[in-house]
Amino acid sequence: MIIAVDGPAGAGKSTISKLIAKKLNINYIDTGAMYRAVTYKCLSEGVDVKNEEAVIEVAKRTDIDFRDNNIYLDSKVVNEKIRTREVSANVSDVAKIKEVRYLMVDVQREIGTRNDVILDGRDIGSYVFPNADYKFFLVATPEERGRRRYKELCEKGFEGTLEEIIKDIEKRDEIDSNREFAPLKKADDAIEIDTTGLGIDEVVEAVVSKIK
Ligand code: C5P
Repeated sequence: MIIAVDGPAGAGKSTISKLIAKKLNINYIDTGAMYRAVTYKCLSEGVDVKNEEAVIEVAKRTDIDFRDNNIYLDSKVVNEKIRTREVSANVSDVAKIKEVRYLMVDVQREIGTRNDVILDGRDIGSYVFPNADYKFFLVATPEERGRRRYKELCEKGFEGTLEEIIKDIEKRDEIDSNREFAPLKKADDAIEIDTTGLGIDEVVEAVVSKIK
């Protein structure tokens, strides 16, 4: 069974997908974490993310693995390192490179053919698994999405403003939605859920009720 959960940044995809994976006892793959891991590696090596050739070269010699709720980049756990504002600000430039996507999608499809899995991302229902058993597209207003991210970042010591975070998110969504290859898009047959004003449990319930 494949469950695809797509949508813009901060719509609640990863929180919801994790809980559903637990509930249904299936695997969870955070596909955004893969693009983040490549971005983190580029930044660590001083590679300019606008230099496509150089980014592709990095992606080709990158090993990404998911085990025990951890993400491994070249055998090292990078759960927190890939969630910084710097990685967020650069990831969409890495993710718009077709060759990088091919490499990541190969891994995602390989995992999906071996296991029952819920994947969250931008193009899972529209491109990676067009025949997924269930497809959801989560949305929320930019203000609500910004508030969620802002809260997360403040817990980690962020001292900027909510407006900055809303701007970051809108910029990322714009690049993700307008890239040429496999953009952020609702698949025609995906169920759209507006999570604005909904609690986590309510969204999980809305998704699980469709799966039953
Ligand atoms: O889900 P998250 O916000 O962590 O994703 C980070 C970035 O990775 C997105 O903004 C997007 O550029 C990219 N991404 C993608 N395709 C996916 C998942 C994420 O392009 N399936």
